[in-house]
Amino acid sequence: MSTELPESLVPPPSESLSAPSRRTFIAASTAVGGAVVAGGVLAGPAPLGATEAAAADGPPSSQVTVSVNGTRHTVTIDNRTSLLDLLREHLGLTGSKKGCNAGACGACTVLVDGRRVNSCLTLAVRLDGAQITTIEGLDRGGRLHPLQEAFVEQDAFQCGFCTPGQIMSGVACIQEGHTGSVEEIREWMSGNICRCGCYVKIVRAVEQAAAGGK
Ligand code: FES
Ligand code: FES
Repeated sequence: MSTELPESLVPPPSESLSAPSRRTFIAASTAVGGAVVAGGVLAGPAPLGATEAAAADGPPSSQVTVSVNGTRHTVTIDNRTSLLDLLREHLGLTGSKKGCNAGACGACTVLVDGRRVNSCLTLAVRLDGAQITTIEGLDRGGRLHPLQEAFVEQDAFQCGFCTPGQIMSGVACIQEGHTGSVEEIREWMSGNICRCGCYVKIVRAVEQAAAGGK
């Protein structure tokens, strides 16, 4: 009597014989990955391209000459340097404050050729030959500027962080003739924020200095 099973009852060949198992697939992948990594290590770093080589030389820089409070300075700076950083980091004039560093608070206000600017938004390399006035340059022969005196007399500050910017802006506001009324002063000083809320006294100080014809 034959012991062979009928063909319909013979099981199909095992999957493990016809297709890779999960274990053998992972093992094979790891081996291939390892070979790629090893190949990369063995090949060593690729040579620098033009861009990387330029970056390795450092950022582009320029020489700029400015007059700050009557003193001439020639400096070589990264082209991205703001006027505020030139003053604070390169020239040691830290009276101008970095509040927002984004043109929103006015703490960094200085005068460039007599006009007020937010120094944090002004590229220093564009100012070659400019006349810059900061809070350190306002005194007159050792005496406070009339608007500085008015700020003291009106007690127009609390923490004082915004004060240099407020005063520089106030000086320009007076020179521009925008002091006809409290509303006008408020409008033309509105770019200078005071987180201590000293606005009423700041406006009074500007009024006082403007009334003194100073
Ligand atoms: Fe320049 Fe705020 S620090 S506007
Ligand atoms: Fe403090 Fe103006 S006095 S922010």
